[in-house]
Amino acid sequence: MFVVVASTRPGRVRIRVGEWFRAAAEAHGRFDVRFVDLTALALPFMDEPNHPRLGTYTRQHTKDWSAVVAGADAFVFVTPEYNHGYNAVLKNALDFLHKEWADKPMGLVGYGGIAAGTRATQQLKPVLDALRMAVAVEAVNIPFVTNFLSPEGFRANDVIEASAGAMLDELARLGRLLRPAREVADLALARR
Ligand SMILES: Cc1cc2nc3c(=O)[nH]c(=O)nc-3n(C[C@H](O)[C@H](O)[C@H](O)COP(=O)(O)O)c2cc1C
Repeated sequence: MFVVVASTRPGRVRIRVGEWFRAAAEAHGRFDVRFVDLTALALPFMDEPNHPRLGTYTRQHTKDWSAVVAGADAFVFVTPEYNHGYNAVLKNALDFLHKEWADKPMGLVGYGGIAAGTRATQQLKPVLDALRMAVAVEAVNIPFVTNFLSPEGFRANDVIEASAGAMLDELARLGRLLRPAREVADLALARR
């Protein structure tokens, strides 16, 4: 599982939310958990000449990102809410690729103010549909995220911990269901 932390702003809180979720996913025990920080990934604005569905990438950064996403068996996006939506850096990272996302479980962790990141995560769903991702209904939404921050990091309450557990259980279940779907897709690609 790749935990993808989406915000790139200096002073961002997401790194602490992402670290908390990574620890929760490791403790769950069903996933080999990796961390992807979109700041470190540092993709430029989409600069590929061809539609990503063709997989004819021309830039080394796209080939590297493709290899990362193709090798993952599940994702969790940790996204802030900016102006009632998710952040642009995340959309850019999604748009770079196509088939690499397909038939993979996706979990969403949103955070923000009174709306708890729900407007951001709801807006993500049609985009993830277009990429054929299987989004878990169970999600983590954190209201007034700064109230959960301490010098030691992000401290979840019982409700947030329980929602993370439910989402991880569902991602494990979706992973088992989708494995055959990905094998069929691989065969279709191999025949071309
Ligand atoms: C550009 C910007 C727009 C924001 N818009 C919203 C918003 O529409 N709704 C909300 O609940 N919080 C909003 N916030 C507050 C953020 O959710 C909060 O600052 C959060 O910590 C941002 O995540 P980050 O620190 O990881 O960047 C906004 C913050 C920024 C920087």
